[in-house]
Formats: sequence, C-alpha cells, structure tokens
Amino acid sequence: MLNVFLCLGLFVSHYTVNTEIIYQGFNSSFVPQWWQPCIIYEVYVRSFKDSNGDGLGDLNGITEKVDYLKNLGVCAVWLSPVFKSPQLDFGYDISNFREIDPIYGTTHDFDRMLEKFHKAGIKVLLDFVPNHTSNMHDWFKKSVKKIDPYTDYFIWKDAKYVDGVRSPPNNWLSVFSGSAWEWSEGRQQYYFHQFLVEQPDLNYRNPKVHEEIKDVMRFWLDRGLDGFRIDAICHVYEKEDFADEPLSGKPGVLPTDYLYLDHPYTMQLPENVGLVKEWDELIYSYKKKESDELKILVLECYAPTKKLMPYYSNDSTCRSTFPFNFNLVEHMDRESDAQDLKTMISTWLINMPEGSWANWVISNHDRDRIASRMESTLLDGIHMIQMMLPGTAITYYGDELGMENSYVRWDQVTDTFALNYGPERFQLVNRDPERSPFPWDDTKNAGFSDASNVWLPIHPNFWADNMKQQSKRKSHLRTYKQLARLRQNPTLIYGDLDMFTLSKWTFGFTRSYKDNPTYVVVVNFGSETETVDLLKFRPTLPAILKVKVSSLNSGLVTGNLVNATSIFLRPKAGLVLITSYSNEV
Ligand code: BGC
Repeated sequence: MLNVFLCLGLFVSHYTVNTEIIYQGFNSSFVPQWWQPCIIYEVYVRSFKDSNGDGLGDLNGITEKVDYLKNLGVCAVWLSPVFKSPQLDFGYDISNFREIDPIYGTTHDFDRMLEKFHKAGIKVLLDFVPNHTSNMHDWFKKSVKKIDPYTDYFIWKDAKYVDGVRSPPNNWLSVFSGSAWEWSEGRQQYYFHQFLVEQPDLNYRNPKVHEEIKDVMRFWLDRGLDGFRIDAICHVYEKEDFADEPLSGKPGVLPTDYLYLDHPYTMQLPENVGLVKEWDELIYSYKKKESDELKILVLECYAPTKKLMPYYSNDSTCRSTFPFNFNLVEHMDRESDAQDLKTMISTWLINMPEGSWANWVISNHDRDRIASRMESTLLDGIHMIQMMLPGTAITYYGDELGMENSYVRWDQVTDTFALNYGPERFQLVNRDPERSPFPWDDTKNAGFSDASNVWLPIHPNFWADNMKQQSKRKSHLRTYKQLARLRQNPTLIYGDLDMFTLSKWTFGFTRSYKDNPTYVVVVNFGSETETVDLLKFRPTLPAILKVKVSSLNSGLVTGNLVNATSIFLRPKAGLVLITSYSNEV
C-alpha cells in the first residue's frame, strides 16, 4: 500500500520570466529534504584510494577518507559501480548485482564503509546499471541456453539473410561503435547490446525483468543504502518494431560510429519514464513514517532539457527522483559568454516542474574534467556559480582541487570505448584522462597507492599540486570548502535568483531571501580585465559590498570591501560578495 505523508513543502511559484527574477525561491514553510542543499560527491572507486597496494582504489580506501569528505562539506557520496564484474567497462558490466567485486573488497567492507559514512552524517548512493548486465551474468548464460525463466531476459532476434549471408536484424549501432547486435553461436540468434559486446541489454518488455531488478534494489536498500545513481536510463527501452534508424548526416563520422545514425528508436522512449515511476514508488515505500528520510534516485540521461522533465517524481515537493542536469557539462565551453550562461541556467529552471529542485553537474567520469574543458583559472568562478545557484551540486572527485585530465598514451589506454576506436582515433572518445588517481600528497603515487604500478598515470604535476599542499594555502580546495559551508545559509536554500549579463563576458546573479543579506556572484568568463557596475542592474544594492569568497586570481581576500559601481575582475576571476559587513553571515 502506498504511504501518504503530509509534505511540509509549501512553495511559491518558481520563476517569473518577464522580470529579471528568473526563479522565486521557497517560503519558510518549505522543509528541505537532506539531498536538497546537499553536495553529492562522485567517487570513481578505482581512482580514489588504494588500501591494499594493488594499484586500484577500493572500499577500505574510501573508508580511510571519510573524514576528508566530511571536512569538505559533502553530504552524500555516489560510488561508481562496485558490484562483481569482469571490469571490461570498469564495473558497468555487472555479473552479479548482489556481490561486491573482490578487487574493491567484500560485503563486510561495504557495511563497514556505510556505517562510517552514516556516523559522519554522509549518505551513500551506489551506481546501478539496469540497462544491461555482463555476458558473464548467470541470467545471460541461462538465456543463451533458453533456460526458463531467463529465455527472454535479453533482447534476442533472428538473423537477417542477405543473399544467403547472415547479417544483424537491423542497422542499430552500439554507443561504443560497431553493430549493436552480436551473434550467439549457442542460441543461433543475435542479441542486442547498446554498449560493449560483453554488455547484453536486458529486455524490459518482460515483466519478470522488472521484478528481478526491483529485488536487487531492495537488497541494497534493505542494507541501509540511501539511494542509487541510475546509469543510462534513456537507453533502457527500444522500439518494438526494430525499424532501422535514420542516418544522421553528421560530417566526419565513420559508418561504425554511434553518431552516424540518429537514435529515435533506441533512446528516450516514453516507456523509460514509466519504468522510473515504478522505482520511484519502490524507494518511496521505504518512507514508512514521517521521520524516515527519503531514499533518492538520480538519473543519468543525456537528452534535451524538456525530455528530462517527466523523470522528476510526480510530487516533487516530497519525492526524490530527479534527472541529472547536464546543461553545464554539454554546453559550457571556452566560447561561452555571460548570455550563454544565463540561457543554460534558466533553461533548466524554467522547464522544471512546479515545486521541483534543480541540480548542477559540471564533470563526471565520462567527460573531460572541468578544469581541462574550461581553464583551471576559471575553476573557482565556476564553483561559485554551481554552489550558489539554487539546487543540489554534484562534484566529481578531485574537482575540488581543480584536477586536470592526465595525458594517456595509446599504450596506456584502458577504456574499451577508446580501444574500439583504435590508435588513430582513440583521443576522440578516451575517458581515461578524467579518471586518473586522486593526488593526496607529494609521496609515491601521490599517496594514492603503495603499488609499483597504478592502473592509470597520475597527473605529473602531483608533487606540486595535491590535496595536502592545497590545504595549507589559498587554493581551489579552500575556495570549495568556503562555498560548501555557505550552502547551509537559508538565503541559498530558500532565496530568489536574479541573473545578469554585466558585460558580454561577465556573468552575475544575486540570491536574496526576506530581510537577510543578499549574496552577489560575479564571474568574468572573458580574457580581458573588466570593471563592472552592479548598481546598474540592481540599484537597490548598497554602494559597498564585502568579499565573502574570492577566486585565487582575483587579487582580493575574504573581508575586503569593494565598490559596487566599479568591481574590478581579472580575466577568469570570480567573487562572492555580500551586503552585510558582519562576520556572522
Ligand atoms: C556510464 C558509462 C558507461 C555506460 C555503460 C554510462 O552512461 O556513465 O561510464 O560506460 O553508461 O554502462
């Protein structure tokens, strides 16, 4: 039976587009859920901390670093997949959903880690991969042999014969290149795989698969897990008539590249949303009494903003399923100006269902690191934007230090996606550079591992730029921590948002709430020094503002006073200013 609770979340309408206030915050009767003011921190487990000297990060390594994460100010961690797996896609190829892979530890290690996080007040989310399994999963092995009930757990189709030659049933392509169909000698049929050959897709047209997957979710939630990051949700269903997909006409791509086709029949089918609603019910059923905290589901799908909105829980004020907002990952680049920033941000806020909560992603394990995609000097400014906007912030491990991509040569490549592209083209898709080990200090292997070899090259600058060293001086890490602390302030939870293009390259916004001091964020995305006049845009602001947080390159420090009519910003510099001179705020 469905649990019904009173949602203490009365809110006022979210945005007013015809004035400059783009987003009206919440009133004081709104009771934020734990995940709302939160920073969710992605731990790429292989690269975080190795506790047993095999060159790979593991669960006990993460447990050692709980205090670091607590001190950083994160309220939840999301771990990349730790289930049993042949590791061909580093855990996104799961051969047993209920076991921890021995390279990462044991179930006991997991429980110990969970307990330590919970004691520190940090929630834990696991990466969950419902679209496919590994071909080493027992379900698949039995499906090949047509052993019931597994016969139709995967997507099987007969071959097509063209002039007597066996060929795949249609032209569908794998994201990781080549046909999305693989012949099974055992079953004498093709099976469908959106990703690697070794990652067969589950068949969600089979109700038994729904039940299996929900059982697995219950298994971990019953152990005390706080939720899941759901992988590749927009790939889960395919069109039932298996029609060929149209050519994209994109220049410069090979017929084997995923981008060679458009994907109307294999991505973003409406049925995906229905599946998520089943899981939303499941996690909500864990809230048995008013005081129980909600579990959450965070969904990974790269799609236009409007297509993602149906994934939000129906009652967004008291439910907790939401899609990642990748607008800053997909659209922010070195060409972005202030107006572009404003558009990227307002697109999400304006389209979000009434009463919903936003989120902001800037990097992850599949995309270049933010400091490499943009410029490391702009990192503090970008964190200021991400952390001071209304919504949950999602941080990829090491971004708090401004970690950059590591260069990975062809002979060092481990990412199967890149290996599929070969030595000439691997750089186009290689995801190894953003996955290199965390630089804890300047000792051997940056303090990540005692092994003689670690699984990916560590950034060669680790001896000069690492966590330990950044803890001692004004640094990206310090800026990040300052911002993380500010997020608990009611103005940043409840407040309105008003955005400005202060000049072509200088983007700014205010957050204000009732009579509380207003926060002002200004960031210069350009290559020239700018002097901006804030009062032109918000004449009600006081003439003098106080620096609350300053970027490394700003030339200012916390506590400095600035004249609101002439704020001086070096290229790529950012400031968080406040309208109060008190040290309390
Ligand atoms: C994950 C990738 C993974 C793929 C297949 C993605 O979207 O983030 O790292 O390779 O799903 O599971």
